Amino acid sequence: MRKIICTAAVLAMLCSALAGCTKKDEASVSSEAPTTQAVTSVTTENETSETAAPEYHQEGFDYLALVNKTEPLPEGWEEALETVHMTNSVGDDVEVEKKAYDAYLELKAELEAEGIYVDLDSARRSIAEQQRIMDDFTEKYGIDYASKTVAEPGYSEHHTGLALDLYLIIDGKDVVLNEEMIQYPEIWSVIHSRLADHGFILRYPEDKEHITGYGYEPWHIRYIDDAEKAKEITSNGMTFEEYLGIATDGKPTVDYGSSELFSEDELKETAVQVKCSFAGSGRRVLNKLKYAGDEMNTADNLKLAKEYGRNEDYTQVIAFLADFTVTEESKSYDAGEYKDYPCWLARTEDDGWEIVTWGEMNE
Ligand code: DAL
Ligand code: ZN
Repeated sequence: MRKIICTAAVLAMLCSALAGCTKKDEASVSSEAPTTQAVTSVTTENETSETAAPEYHQEGFDYLALVNKTEPLPEGWEEALETVHMTNSVGDDVEVEKKAYDAYLELKAELEAEGIYVDLDSARRSIAEQQRIMDDFTEKYGIDYASKTVAEPGYSEHHTGLALDLYLIIDGKDVVLNEEMIQYPEIWSVIHSRLADHGFILRYPEDKEHITGYGYEPWHIRYIDDAEKAKEITSNGMTFEEYLGIATDGKPTVDYGSSELFSEDELKETAVQVKCSFAGSGRRVLNKLKYAGDEMNTADNLKLAKEYGRNEDYTQVIAFLADFTVTEESKSYDAGEYKDYPCWLARTEDDGWEIVTWGEMNE
């Protein structure tokens, strides 16, 4: 059924390839210049047809504005935006949209009454700040983690001033690092249950990576200035994209099978990456993912992955089988149901997994 074998993979690779400069998707790619350049040039022309979400364009300031991997900050935003500055507990200046800040203060006060202390790590960011964060994350955690966590400059919701990253203060100690904050699910659960009342939604929920394109971020909340709408989104377990009608959730299940080679956490991380590659493609809806088994990690497949991914340094290869629905014909896919469709990922000794290609790999 598929028409062009590599397009989806190439798209995924493009986005991560651009993590150091620009990117729109999830998977990572070698930072070696020849790979990046080659992939970038191939992909750009296909990108529009493959990942373009249904028409959704906006201009000017709107509390319901969508900014995601395919929708940049609307034109005219800066001119209309009104912000305030605050200083957080570690002495950083944080700029926030005016109404969002008032709502945040109400939320904070309500949480404090329950013994939960939060502060603002980051809210409005300039393009240059976003670039700095992207560079910093790439250096510290590698391109793979960075592309699942940080938006391409110009495509970050933080540019709006309506996205707020919280951090926790536990027993008087600032808990700011992502890997530390994630250790407190009970606290986040209380925080999330209070968001809608104040006009906030959780923007990157767990298990919605295939729609948002980002891993779970319990700290990233988004102000939409409407408690009723926020309640509707929250109570229906929707992402903002679903609420706005530009994404459909296939509610994918993931079968990790069993593996002697990879830990469950590793398989989960890899699956998140595959899921993220579906984000922004309103026409390709993921229904199921299945680990294809350790037997895919063969020397032959590794050799093919090196050819497809154009990276000689891969040391391991992994495959997931995806069931997905293509709702509308594109350059790469006919409309219809795709079953057990392979997604190949590979990694080098030092870097995380990256998507190499979709479909069968042939000599
Ligand atoms: N962490 C979110 C995705 C951002 O960088 O905008
Ligand atoms: Zn954020």
